[in-house]
Amino acid sequence: MDERKRILFVEDDPILLELLEATLADMASEWDMGFVSNAEAALEAFAVRPYDIVVADLWMPGMDGAQLLQKILVRYPATVRFVLSGCDDRKLAASVVDRAHQFLSKPCDPAFLKSVLRRTFVLGSEVHSNHAKELVARIGRLPSVPDIYHQINRLMGSERATLDDLGAAIGKDMAMTAMILKLANSAFFSLRQTVSTPGEAVSILGIDLLKSLVLAHGLFSQAGGFRFPTFSLAHLWRHSVAVAAGTKQIAESQGLGRSAAAEYFTAGLLHDVGILVLASRFPDEYAKVIETSRRTGTDLETAEFHVLGSTHGEVGGYLLGLWGLPPAVVQAASLHHQPSRQGEAVFSPTVAVHIADALLSQDPEHEIFSTATLDERYLATLGLTSRIPAWRANLSIDLAGMGELF
Ligand SMILES: [Fe+2]
Ligand SMILES: [Fe+2]
Repeated sequence: MDERKRILFVEDDPILLELLEATLADMASEWDMGFVSNAEAALEAFAVRPYDIVVADLWMPGMDGAQLLQKILVRYPATVRFVLSGCDDRKLAASVVDRAHQFLSKPCDPAFLKSVLRRTFVLGSEVHSNHAKELVARIGRLPSVPDIYHQINRLMGSERATLDDLGAAIGKDMAMTAMILKLANSAFFSLRQTVSTPGEAVSILGIDLLKSLVLAHGLFSQAGGFRFPTFSLAHLWRHSVAVAAGTKQIAESQGLGRSAAAEYFTAGLLHDVGILVLASRFPDEYAKVIETSRRTGTDLETAEFHVLGSTHGEVGGYLLGLWGLPPAVVQAASLHHQPSRQGEAVFSPTVAVHIADALLSQDPEHEIFSTATLDERYLATLGLTSRIPAWRANLSIDLAGMGELF
């Protein structure tokens, strides 16, 4: 039987379709690729045998890409759904955002397209993510990556964009702007100057850091305010921000510069995105997770595995991978409770998030979400033992007022 991974491309422009076929021809030994020119033909191809990935254009005569992805979502939830969209598809793109795992913009660089598809297959083939995949498939409509995040990415890719353009893109969303200004002026960043516009925030904090705040805030805003006896959405937000700050502090104490530390911050901010998704999409089951964790004295991941068959680490890592976050950020979400499972034994965002998460667990505010124990044995193999007392002493994070945002 043909074991190759299957990808279907749906594009009504015959020249683009031919171009895709030609540029990807060298992948034919690894991938079984189909190329069709409309949504109806795509569904017929799926009916013969479902595909692992579908890459669909948005504007198509007859059934458009949004309708096609909706049908695929319902009938074949395990398929990973990509949208290939042009710049003028903004409105349509916004309507489909919760049905697609990732957006690729046209024209798509062939090397980039290949790397995205390859990464998706790697994500899907990891044994431990099988349960996570099933669980994500059950979610159906995914929380979507906010439109401003895509806009910032586009602006960062354009040579003409200025800091003001980036600030203006953020400034269009008032709730987002309020969160950023509040955070920038809180004790949290201990900046010496007052930040009064998103443009200033970009220049002072750096765009990479702001980009991750935009993404996290967008994801949290869609979660619909859940509340369990032991935690609420606001509580999880405070925990995520605290771990982000702690992870960044640890990275800086290891001598990392601003841009590397920003990636650590992102990893910390998104490390428990799996809890966000599971708690908001499966509230009844998640209430059981919390109850099991309290009754048996086990941590959340153990209780999640028992009740849901997967963990927030697996689900979070899988989703962040599908959304195209950097591999180090994906790994930190997947493995922050078991850092020793990372491949190479080095200091990494996974290790730093684990440390921040575990050290914060002594604070009752963070206890419920945190890694129960610090893996001191693994830290010893990384030569980090002598650093622990200083991290423990210095990890103080002042988040007064941050929870009111949700
Ligand atoms: Fe966690
Ligand atoms: Fe955590």
